Amino acid sequence: MPDHPAEPRLLVRGGPELRGQVSVSGAKNSALKLMAASLLASGVSVLHNVPDIQDVGTMKEVLEHLGAVVQFSDATLTVDTRAVRSHVAPYELVQRMRASIQIMGPLVARFGHARVAMPGGCNLGPRKIDIHLRGLTDMGAVVDSEHGFVEVSAKKLKGASVFLDYPSVGATENLLMAAVLADGVTVLENAAREPEIVDLCKFLMSMGAEIEGAGSSTIRVTGVEEMVSAEHTVLGDRIEAGTFLIAGALTGGEVEVNGIHPHVLELFLSKLRSAGVQVQEGTRSIKASGDPRTYRAVDVATLPFPGFPTDLQAQMMTLLSVADGVSLVTENVFEQRFGFVDELIRLGADIRVDGNHAVVTGGRALTGAIVRCPDLRAGAALALAGLVAEGCTELREIHHIDRGYERFEEKLRSLGADIERSVVEDGGLV
Ligand code: UD1
Repeated sequence: MPDHPAEPRLLVRGGPELRGQVSVSGAKNSALKLMAASLLASGVSVLHNVPDIQDVGTMKEVLEHLGAVVQFSDATLTVDTRAVRSHVAPYELVQRMRASIQIMGPLVARFGHARVAMPGGCNLGPRKIDIHLRGLTDMGAVVDSEHGFVEVSAKKLKGASVFLDYPSVGATENLLMAAVLADGVTVLENAAREPEIVDLCKFLMSMGAEIEGAGSSTIRVTGVEEMVSAEHTVLGDRIEAGTFLIAGALTGGEVEVNGIHPHVLELFLSKLRSAGVQVQEGTRSIKASGDPRTYRAVDVATLPFPGFPTDLQAQMMTLLSVADGVSLVTENVFEQRFGFVDELIRLGADIRVDGNHAVVTGGRALTGAIVRCPDLRAGAALALAGLVAEGCTELREIHHIDRGYERFEEKLRSLGADIERSVVEDGGLV
């Protein structure tokens, strides 16, 4: 979506140290899949701790398009699937949010049919769905594609041994949701191990599914005849937590995030420590503090969980831009996830990109400028840079941030940040 003069912008003035506590919202990457999973039963499912973000709004539209009745207020979302009739995810919604394709598994499993617009390219590179489709084919589904849609049908899916070429998060979830109603046992090998997968499995089990091995790379699902609606509380958002921890550390303040188990961020926290940030772990909280003048370079390589999360790569790059020394950041999960680097350079960072490697020469004093957010996490990373840049940073195309962060600037402000949302009339800094 191009920037429009009427689209609000975020104005960040660098300087204040961030201090205090902040509660993380429910995880975007779990809530969206739990919403899709509700399609597996006919009835009313209730989800608590659902973040009020645009992607949840889009998934709500997807479910409503299928005929579900969805209500959302005060972080509780109810999905009544009794009137679901359509099995189609239209282009307009899939193109707005790739996670719309997660309705494919539940729809084929319950109704024997799903028609989903192909997601196409996105600003993280070409994100394919071959692993999703191969797994469904292994389970006996027939897959066709024409006119930009993928059509998946199966009278009754059959349990199968599915080896994923790569531990894709989305494919693991789609296949799990397909397998719970399949005939017999499905074994997913090389499955993704992200905490959001474990959260999905917990919800599926409370709906009646039989699943063993959630959180490991081999997940065994014994198909059941029928699923029932259930109630579930979404786990905390580890990426939001990581973003606020970096905000605290970067500004030389002290920020405590609540509502998150430290073990879901283990490698990230160890990298923060290696960079010289002080990290304290509680049972369901994490605190970060430190003196940015003492931070030093660390090398970071993104990998599937429990590796360093790709969704925190951009924010980490901001921290490394001010830390002393030369860091090597390697992006192994998504091609083209360095699209924000040019914007960070506009703020004064010294970064060279070669393929999936970025060499960050730190110790730079950042200065405020106009920048555009190329995607969700990059937008957050640029806002973090604004917190320590001298003067004012104006972030444009912030709809990306709104897709995944609930009350982003409000939470930062509560920690002491000088950040506001504003419509800029003349297209320049105010
Ligand atoms: C999910 C998260 C996203 C996170 C990512 C990796 C949601 C809504 N999004 O995305 O925030 O960054 O996990 O942790 O939960 N791939 C294929 N073929 C496939 C599927 C994936 O080649 O069929 C490739 C992708 O192009 C990408 C890599 O595998 O390069 C990882 O993708 P995947 O794990 O599927 O990520 P998503 O589920 O899309």
